[in-house]
Amino acid sequence: MRTPNSRHFDHWIRQDFKHINTELELAYREAGCKDSVTDVGDALKQQLLREGNQHITALLREGNTDEGFDNGFDLLGNVGFFMAACRRHDLTEPSREHKSPLTDASALAMQLGASLGVIPRFASAHLETHNRAINGEYKSFTNLPDEHLFLEYNTRGVFAFIRASEALLHCLPLGVSHPVTHDLLVAAQHDLKTVISNNNALFEKLDIDQFFYCVRPYYKTHRVGLHEYRGANAGDFAGINVIDLLLGLCRADDPYYSQLLVDKFLFMRPDDQLALRDCMRRKSLLDGFLEVDDNATQDDWFQRNAEAFLQVCELHGQTALQHHELLIKKFIELPAARDGLEKQSDLTASGPPLDVMLKGLKKLCDLRTAANVEGLSTRFNDLQKLRSVVKHG
Ligand code: HEM
Repeated sequence: MRTPNSRHFDHWIRQDFKHINTELELAYREAGCKDSVTDVGDALKQQLLREGNQHITALLREGNTDEGFDNGFDLLGNVGFFMAACRRHDLTEPSREHKSPLTDASALAMQLGASLGVIPRFASAHLETHNRAINGEYKSFTNLPDEHLFLEYNTRGVFAFIRASEALLHCLPLGVSHPVTHDLLVAAQHDLKTVISNNNALFEKLDIDQFFYCVRPYYKTHRVGLHEYRGANAGDFAGINVIDLLLGLCRADDPYYSQLLVDKFLFMRPDDQLALRDCMRRKSLLDGFLEVDDNATQDDWFQRNAEAFLQVCELHGQTALQHHELLIKKFIELPAARDGLEKQSDLTASGPPLDVMLKGLKKLCDLRTAANVEGLSTRFNDLQKLRSVVKHG
């Protein structure tokens, strides 16, 4: 059971908090603000700070009420929304501070995060896969249509990736030669096609400036206590990496990829962390197909299942290309270049300058597409080998 203080805070996040943020976004637009929002909407900013702190101080005073994981995680999300909004409105700014000025919010977030085994800030699960709607309304920072569009399409994309990862996980106990493995690979293809059409719809419908100036800023890095934490991104769930690892396109012993996993673990819910950890020690399906005896590669089962597997790899690569070459380009790279903001340190959710982040994401895209890139160890040769024995590969 949630305590009355926790319920009141949740109500505030769903109502007044959203309203204040929306009013501020409209005030910024009216004042022609682009990147800087100083000296605009000061009364609203102070109201946000005062009301949020009042709720949080009451919760902190109440102490550890052991309301169970789900309620604790939900409360952490609410504290995180407040802290992220303070960052967005420049009430906090990590390069200006050596610790967060939101002392009570930090204390509560750290107590919750450490006891739950997650990062002490809001994560994408709070906005996407674990964001309960009440009478059709889920939690968001603002009431702006583009934020809703972004969140709903992200949530759809994440669930489609999760479904594909589950289908691939079911292949493990059956093995690469089982007739039903074919059904599961076809199911994974279907789910990855859903990701692709979902990404296309988001690409068409989302407004560039609304996203860049009114949605993205809520995902900036900020401090909790002493440390600065990167913002959430739609990739903070295990499913996408489960797909990478089970297909064999990315490897847990690759230093670049394992660093990425290590950095992301605490951004996921503990159940998701377990699923990913388990997957890191499994043999990939690609290795399973490559180990098949040469004599068996002309068998019907091999031809059918390996062909379906190659199509799953192809589709997964397409989702990565789309994310990199369509979504990131249109909604981050181009507006940043247009407005001369490429060098700004707080442009990305993860903190590094844009070119550094883009380089990292390109590497990931090359791994997922098994591209033939000098100096990068992708599965290009292994996939070529498999294609060469599959008649319709
Ligand atoms: C990560 C941008 C939509 C999945 C990222 C990052 C950026 C980004 C910049 C890197 C975060 C950082 O390090 O700062 C965008 C933009 C989108 C969008 C501009 C649309 C307007 C989506 C959607 C999905 C998605 C719909 C599908 C579920 C991911 C994943 C990652 C990620 C999986 C983690 C890196 C990876 O494993 O590829 N995104 N994204 N994104 N995003 Fe998106």
